[in-house]
Amino acid sequence: MKRPKITVIGSNMVDLISYINRLPVTGETLEAPDFALGFGGKGANQAVAAALLGGEVRMVTKIGDDFFGPMTKKNLESFGINTTFTETVHGISSGVAPIFVDKDSNNSILIIKGANGHLLPSDIDRARELILDSDIIIMQLEINLETIYHTINICAENDIKVILNPAPADPKLDAERVKSVEFFVPNETELQILTEKGTATMDEVNSAADSLIAKGFKNIIVTLGEKGSLLVTRDSKKMIPAVKVDSKDTTGAGDAFIGCFAVYYIETGDVEKAMNMASRYAALSTTKPGTQSSFIDRKEFEARLAEGL
Ligand code: RIB
Repeated sequence: MKRPKITVIGSNMVDLISYINRLPVTGETLEAPDFALGFGGKGANQAVAAALLGGEVRMVTKIGDDFFGPMTKKNLESFGINTTFTETVHGISSGVAPIFVDKDSNNSILIIKGANGHLLPSDIDRARELILDSDIIIMQLEINLETIYHTINICAENDIKVILNPAPADPKLDAERVKSVEFFVPNETELQILTEKGTATMDEVNSAADSLIAKGFKNIIVTLGEKGSLLVTRDSKKMIPAVKVDSKDTTGAGDAFIGCFAVYYIETGDVEKAMNMASRYAALSTTKPGTQSSFIDRKEFEARLAEGL
């Protein structure tokens, strides 16, 4: 089978993960049970998931000229990801993400963009050939909005499909300038911020997604954690339920979903099948701690599917 050519244009971060009982209040010093350092960033996570599942992945991103930069590039390469356009920004730190995971496996994340904020439209122009030689482009919102708009314009003019994961949500995102993407994939919090509508109930989620369709978006996929994911198009709605697993750390599950979705969608052309696979892959990622460290490869994934996951 032809390997899907996937270009991720987005962020990389070093994740500083603290496993906590609770957050300290102002002025308080509090001991937390555990800590882990890992490679993360929504862009890099999605690239790694897609590469582990068999995609031919390229990563257009910026790293800092600090201690973390070369390690980040090496890490991407260790998964076979093409880093021709993984470039160093001098005098700027790498992106870092302090993450707090509580006893119920829920996470809170701070991001410091660092070099990620320096991925510019001119960098996208230099990577144009690679972009035009892609089956699909994946982007998130941990880079500048102008860079995202510029990429989407190039893709729209050249019929290249785009998955836009509007994470973390940015109320400044101009729907008019991104509505040509093939798939817009928010979680319920991002959907609520971007539409300024409630998303507490499934009726509310449906109507918030409908409001995006009314603005001209084609396919909205709302990821809903342990509830599953919802596909909303102009003509239909389809809920794909999640599988039940024993979750330990949900960090990066949304990224696992998107990387997996991209691979299976390009391989099969079947959106619902790709969502089904992505749901399972994301669920499995929550059973292990960390972000990229919790993603499994195609062989292991297929073995888990054969066991009846
Ligand atoms: O989606 C999880 C990711 O969000 C983490 O890896 C962290 O780096 C932030 O970008």
